[in-house]
Amino acid sequence: MRKIVLAAAAALAFQTAASSAFAAEEVKPMEHHWTFDGILGKFDKQQLQRGFQVYKEVCASCHSLNYISFRNLADIGYSEDQVKVIAAEYQVTDGPDENGDMFQRPARGSDHFPKPFANEQLARMSNGGALPPDLSLMTKARPDGPNYVYSLMMGYKDAPPKGFELAPGMSYNEYFPGHQIAMPQQLMDDRISYADGTKPTAAQLSEDVTAFLHWAAEPKLEVRHATGIRVLLFAFLFTVLAYLYKRRLWSRIEH
Ligand code: HEC
Repeated sequence: MRKIVLAAAAALAFQTAASSAFAAEEVKPMEHHWTFDGILGKFDKQQLQRGFQVYKEVCASCHSLNYISFRNLADIGYSEDQVKVIAAEYQVTDGPDENGDMFQRPARGSDHFPKPFANEQLARMSNGGALPPDLSLMTKARPDGPNYVYSLMMGYKDAPPKGFELAPGMSYNEYFPGHQIAMPQQLMDDRISYADGTKPTAAQLSEDVTAFLHWAAEPKLEVRHATGIRVLLFAFLFTVLAYLYKRRLWSRIEH
């Protein structure tokens, strides 16, 4: 009996110590409703375009999007001409030319988004030593990805809770493991104004950019869902046919 009491006390003490030290305990991200949830889920192209605008005007100054080329944007509803115009806003390095020199030219549809920093050292130097990760596969790289990215964007607190030692240059974020993040808060109300007139609240910006990043990570989501539905339909029809056939077969046999 005494042993049990002691063990319970020790467990309690351990738990209290762990939570008061703000250890990297798991924080469940907020549950958010997404248009792409569930087997019938689809992307909302208008939302993806807004999310792209957020990426372009806010995130792209620190984060690359290595796996996406400009022509992929046709997928989210831009025409070929619009893709050309978007691409031409960027300069990419090409070459070497006949003199062996690299040169800059406006990007084309087949080019990938240019990286914001020439190399990792520069990226770290500009971000207090931390490296802004590539965002192409981010929603797949984190558990419960879309909910996590949304929560991360919305999870900043002006001041850390009492007793939390925040290192200089770091921000407190409720959803980042360990709560100290080298990325300052990015999305607040009216950070950008939307081309389609949607009200740019922090929540709207966060939702849109997350949807866009999820499309970047899984552009074939809708095809996958459609295949899933076909497989289910096939399995259902097959079961019905098998059942009917069985009935027919057995009806000929005298019981
Ligand atoms: C000023 C530079 C900067 C901008 C702008 C920026 N980030 Fe970051 N981001 C960072 C840095 C630095 C890190 C690494 C943080 C760390 O490891 O502490 C990071 C990390 C992240 C992570 C990964 C978190 C994890 O779990 O590891 C995500 C997701 C992210 N940023 C999304 C975004 C989105 C979306 C935007 C645009 C709305 C954005 N960031 C804009 C600098 C930036």
